[in-house]
Amino acid sequence: MTDPAPADRSFPPIAIGQLVVPHPVFLAPMAAYTDAAFRSLCFAHGCGAAVTEMTNAYGLMIAHRRTMRFLEIRADEGILGAQIYGSDPAVMAEAADLVASLGRFAFLDINAGCPMPKIRNRGDGSGLLRTPDRFLEVVAAVKRALAGRLPLTVKTRIGYEPGKPVVAELAPQLEAAGADALFVHARYALDRHSGPADWKQLAAAKAAVKIPVIGNGGVDRPGDAFRMREATGVDGVMAGRATIANPWFFDGVRAMERGESPGGLPKASVLYETLCDHLKREIELFARRDRKELKHSAEVTAVLAFRPHVVRYLHGFREFRTLAAHLSEYQTADELLERVKTVIDGGRKCDAPPPPVAIPGA
Ligand SMILES: Cc1cc2nc3c(=O)[nH]c(=O)nc-3n(C[C@H](O)[C@H](O)[C@H](O)COP(=O)(O)O)c2cc1C
Repeated sequence: MTDPAPADRSFPPIAIGQLVVPHPVFLAPMAAYTDAAFRSLCFAHGCGAAVTEMTNAYGLMIAHRRTMRFLEIRADEGILGAQIYGSDPAVMAEAADLVASLGRFAFLDINAGCPMPKIRNRGDGSGLLRTPDRFLEVVAAVKRALAGRLPLTVKTRIGYEPGKPVVAELAPQLEAAGADALFVHARYALDRHSGPADWKQLAAAKAAVKIPVIGNGGVDRPGDAFRMREATGVDGVMAGRATIANPWFFDGVRAMERGESPGGLPKASVLYETLCDHLKREIELFARRDRKELKHSAEVTAVLAFRPHVVRYLHGFREFRTLAAHLSEYQTADELLERVKTVIDGGRKCDAPPPPVAIPGA
């Protein structure tokens, strides 16, 4: 048998309410990583759609300046959803109304999966899975507040407690309450981000609803996007940690759609250029802020915010440890990039991919 024609491999477009997503390969929301700078970089590398970092609905309601920053976007981003979290239907509805009135976003997403104790213990994020009636009330209230202006998605997990899946039962209820699509992370809330992803539950969720289901969890390489779709029948996939310091993940999926190899680790020169591009985008983001809001210049603030990314880009290089130990000494882009260049020129220890990123609060 010959390989399927390239067209057979591609992810067909999906409709989320009135929104058509031509390439349903999503960048997952990741607090402290997926700001507008990183998202725009991923879009430039073929990402099909993305979601903002989780944004506190109460903070939006009181127009808290720091909270509003989570909804900053760049003009060169593609299809983007705003993610809000909270468990008070009235507050969530007000936040949804505000997001819709901004006119910046293609859809609104409710976070019902965050496992951090300080979030879930007050009933927000994955805490909603413990109070299904409240969960459905929130979805219905947000749907009403959007009044057809934006499609509504819900990002949730297969269940709260390990071994007790609820998603197949919950998914049709979320659909009835107004969700236009579901993002399902194939792990339990109490497993946080570790443990095996149970793709069987993605298949069960998909079979239970008519709206699109986008699978998440266990997509570690471009080929996993295709494996997940084949194994579960999901309509799209969402990748998180595999994309950190690796926007080439999305190029890899596009290449595989064309029947080509996804490619391996980038050449040193490509890595350096991409890191520079990413940093430039971060500096541009902070340069848009009111100078009075920043403790340092836009450039220094961006360099500080960029540290977690640098560490990921350079993991596996021989001089990585020296750079990591002295990272706080580099304040300007030139200082940082000069050091980065030396580390890259020193070569990689091996070609193994870096270990998974650490999870905040875990
Ligand atoms: C550092 C980090 C921050 C995250 N922040 C969010 C968030 O703000 N909102 C959200 O819905 N999920 C968040 N997640 C969960 C991811 O969106 C995703 O569901 C999870 O990482 C599993 O996908 P993966 O195995 O492809 O990484 C975060 C994950 C990580 C690692």
